[in-house]
Amino acid sequence: MNLTITWYSHACLLIESDGTRLLTDPFFSGNPLAPVTADEVECDYIFVSHGHGDHVGDTVAIARRTNATVVSNFEITNWLQEHGVEHTHPLHIGGGCNFPWGRIKLTIAHHGSALPDGSYGGSPAGLLFYLQGKKIYHACDTGLFYDMKLIGEEGIDLAVLPIGDNFTMGPADAIRAVKLIQPQQVLPIHYDTFDVIRQDPRAWASQVEEETSTRVRVLQPGESLEL
Ligand code: NI
Ligand code: MN
Repeated sequence: MNLTITWYSHACLLIESDGTRLLTDPFFSGNPLAPVTADEVECDYIFVSHGHGDHVGDTVAIARRTNATVVSNFEITNWLQEHGVEHTHPLHIGGGCNFPWGRIKLTIAHHGSALPDGSYGGSPAGLLFYLQGKKIYHACDTGLFYDMKLIGEEGIDLAVLPIGDNFTMGPADAIRAVKLIQPQQVLPIHYDTFDVIRQDPRAWASQVEEETSTRVRVLQPGESLEL
């Protein structure tokens, strides 16, 4: 029983669950905070939350090199197939699927999803992982929405929330999100990658811990936590 989460900056996580490696939104090339390159990452599955370039990122190159299966919405998996990704699994909002390593469900997210070449990328999504009896909710790119309360009703062990502002929730709305979800722990993401999303995660952590009983895990890019 081993559940390790490494934050590669932005929305990119490597979740290692009993030997299976799950990679989310693999944005390495062009990411000034990335602690490793796309050539170095090993994974079994890749999850793409929406079509934007800072989330599709290096998916095609990594999937082709590693033979990983890419899980995303139907429109994005079709686009990836056209770009030479062999193994894909399409899902859509509210739908989940059981895999040998656990379960993934796509949740709503309020955002855009155009693909890098302008193709239609369907609806943006959040990712809800069920692994070894634990639940990880990766909100990905979204604004605050009240239905986060429904996601919280599942009993979230770790919420992964954007705090960068400008393109997603900012720090104040991310605190309101913590109050709706009531996770055991929260990991702030999607900040400092670009100038317009600079934030102070330590100040955010202090405020969350003052106002809620959720524990905040602030990581450096490349750093890991155990669940
Ligand atoms: Ni986006
Ligand atoms: Mn983004």
